[in-house]
Amino acid sequence: MTAKELNTIGLIGAGVMGSALAMNIASRKLTISLYNRTYQKSVHCQMMAKSENLDIMVFKEIADFVASLRRPRKVIVIVSSGTATDAVVENLTKLLEPGDIVIDAANEFYRKTEERMKFVHGYGLLYLGMGVSGGESGARYGPSLMPGGDREAYDAMEPILQKIAAVNDVGVECVKYMGAGGAGHFVKMVHNGIEYGIMEAIAEIYDILRKAMKYDNKQISDMFKFFNSGRLDSYLCEITSYVLEATNPDDPNSYLVDDVLDVAGAKGTGMWTSQESFRLGVPCPTICAAVDARNASSCRSARRKLATKYNAICRSDIASQELTAEDFERALYACYVLAFTQGVELIRKASLEYNYDINLSDVFLVWERGCILRGRILKALGPVVTQDCILSSDYVVDVFRSSIPSLKGILKLCLESGTAAPALSSTANLLFALTDENCPMNLIQGLRDHFGAHTFFMKSDASKPLHANWVQSNWC
Ligand SMILES: NC(=O)c1ccc[n+]([C@@H]2O[C@H](COP(=O)([O-])OP(=O)(O)OC[C@H]3O[C@@H](n4cnc5c(N)ncnc54)[C@H](OP(=O)(O)O)[C@@H]3O)[C@@H](O)[C@H]2O)c1
Repeated sequence: MTAKELNTIGLIGAGVMGSALAMNIASRKLTISLYNRTYQKSVHCQMMAKSENLDIMVFKEIADFVASLRRPRKVIVIVSSGTATDAVVENLTKLLEPGDIVIDAANEFYRKTEERMKFVHGYGLLYLGMGVSGGESGARYGPSLMPGGDREAYDAMEPILQKIAAVNDVGVECVKYMGAGGAGHFVKMVHNGIEYGIMEAIAEIYDILRKAMKYDNKQISDMFKFFNSGRLDSYLCEITSYVLEATNPDDPNSYLVDDVLDVAGAKGTGMWTSQESFRLGVPCPTICAAVDARNASSCRSARRKLATKYNAICRSDIASQELTAEDFERALYACYVLAFTQGVELIRKASLEYNYDINLSDVFLVWERGCILRGRILKALGPVVTQDCILSSDYVVDVFRSSIPSLKGILKLCLESGTAAPALSSTANLLFALTDENCPMNLIQGLRDHFGAHTFFMKSDASKPLHANWVQSNWC
């Protein structure tokens, strides 16, 4: 190949996401080289591209793949996170030259990204850790992209990323530089955490509607269509209505979702978000509850055995005539708002703690299209996310003013019927806790001081730590 013929971009990984992204890149008239550990998958992707009149150049040997790229070489790596990406990146360090750019588009843990960045810097390479949202169809037709890392690498990649990203309703590309280090993967991790929280809240609404309200799938699907016609208009509400209505391909008389095993999978991003919320001291109970609920679902045989002993103790066949579709809409919207609020506060704290300098308005812009979190709420919350306290904004106060009575009514029904609702109750409890000017932590402080001399402060003087003998009522 002459220098003129060298390709603009290389992509490693011809799995579900890699193939879709390669076709997206080819469809933007960018010349692309593709390499995958299993060569046949690259060939399959090339054939799929050909059927759409798209050109993808595939390589059996990674050295030939690297040699086919124009300098500075730009290589997107989209393989399984962890050891697979480690292996690919290590291989690349032997083949690339100083100034070349590696873009890790896996769902990687941000600390791992920062370790890898240091590692490739040792070879004079530049690095981006890039979150990609939108699943297979997003990758194919326009994903939401969250790149972070070396600014110089982003500047070199921006024209390419803008061509392949989703575009919002005013023509702005859903890609922005998220910040230094692992900022891009941090934002993607939190994005997934919010997604966990919202999906759990959706599942709980479904559960209470089917168990206590005795709605069938079609009625619940219609309810989600109703949600989707207003401020809850969002990708996740939209696909919930499809998933509830789909029939089993082997039995058109039964709903497919009813035949699906009730054990949720997880790939770790929700757990990472929860761990990070503890590490940074930012309460994210809706997200943590969603991770716990998936963990509880995995104890299926125990659940089945215990149900025989506990059904009569925990559950009652009780319904409510008073709850309306609007009540469920308000409760779910409250969960959406608080799940986003938790994610935003986590990103804000991380940005300060890790010097990422993340612009929250950019994060919301990038999530507007092509993204699993896309929905009308991004426009509603967009103007308030940069405020110091989202909960004090007039918009959010109004949301909770109208939704808390509905949420309480639904939680009352959950308690009375014995239907688990950890995300819905976490949402209410977080709001109650964060807005309580007289919380019970004074008692916790007393207990800690009594058994461990951990000291405490008085309301009248929060500067001087004190220790008391709580049995004799003396100062120590
Ligand atoms: N699926 C989604 O919705 C989504 C969304 C955003 C981000 N992501 C991220 O995108 C990445 C790819 O996901 P996917 O859904 O495309 O997965 P996938 O279909 O399972 O493909 C996995 C890819 O990783 C490669 N691979 C695995 N182990 C390897 C190793 N040791 N050395 C070299 N290559 C290895 C596979 O190569 P072989 O063909 O040789 O096995 C294949 O190309 C993941 O990091 C995922 O977190 C996925």
